Amino acid sequence: MQVIDNITALKDVIGKKKKKGLRIGLVPTMGFLHEGHLSLMRAAKAENDCMVVSIFVNPLQFGVGEDYVEYPRDLEGDKKLAAAAGCDLLFSPSVREMYPRGYATFVEVERLTNSLCGLSRPGHFRGVTTVVAKLFNLVCPDRAYFGQKDAQQAFVLQKMVADLNMDLQLIIGPTIREADGLAMSSRNKYLTPAQRKEAVTLYKSLQEAEQSIAAGEREAEVLKQAISQRISAIKGACLDYVEIVDTTELCPVLLISGKCLIAVAVRFGQTRLIDNVIVEV
Ligand code: PAJ
Repeated sequence: MQVIDNITALKDVIGKKKKKGLRIGLVPTMGFLHEGHLSLMRAAKAENDCMVVSIFVNPLQFGVGEDYVEYPRDLEGDKKLAAAAGCDLLFSPSVREMYPRGYATFVEVERLTNSLCGLSRPGHFRGVTTVVAKLFNLVCPDRAYFGQKDAQQAFVLQKMVADLNMDLQLIIGPTIREADGLAMSSRNKYLTPAQRKEAVTLYKSLQEAEQSIAAGEREAEVLKQAISQRISAIKGACLDYVEIVDTTELCPVLLISGKCLIAVAVRFGQTRLIDNVIVEV
């Protein structure tokens, strides 16, 4: 596995791979790798000739007062995990390398970023789309891999790729969960043992909503109330949002019909966790 931290060297290596006609699969990450990231890497390895992983804690996507400084980092551990998953090239640039002095260009997807996490984290998706557009330009992937865990991010990036005619395919991998159902996340590390135990309620409440829908419930408000009550009953947890939206514009729906995304965000103290399921009737 080659490890590169500067753009000149990266472009040189990528240029050579492209000249040989190799298909490149990219897995963008912020590191502190877990099984969710590794599952995307395995898919990228299987479907391409060259698997590239980026590790970059992107300051642009963190708001004021968010956890940019505390965000867990372990580059040495990550190198071992990425290599074991078959990574051919690891790109881990510095902030200065990605955003040199005077940097002034941003990519913004409208509308889809005005709901769910876009409301509680203003500017977050602008940071995500900007860094991912830069990574696409640098790595020139044929395919790029993202997780369903961050469903709105996946929808927003799909919109960016379509609207800007970017010549690559996005592959969305399923959410990988702990044995009890909690969605894996680098942020789970922040949870106290008591919070960790309670955190499974996010997924449990989503599963209950799926069961209610299977049993015939169609009223979004009834489903959201049930999830909200379940989460509000957890001591020390604060519901950020529970929302049911369509899967094209991410607009709230009144009745479940076709494909819908049910998404929740919950704060456990300073730690903000998200989870979601897609239902289809
Ligand atoms: P990060 O949180 O490190 O996640 C990197 C990728 O792994 C994302 O596509 C995310 O959806 C996916 N992922 C995280 N947890 C997962 C899980 N439990 N199951 C499946 N996939 C999971 O998302 C980001 O970084 C950043 O916003 C990034 C896209 C790298 C831009 O900075």
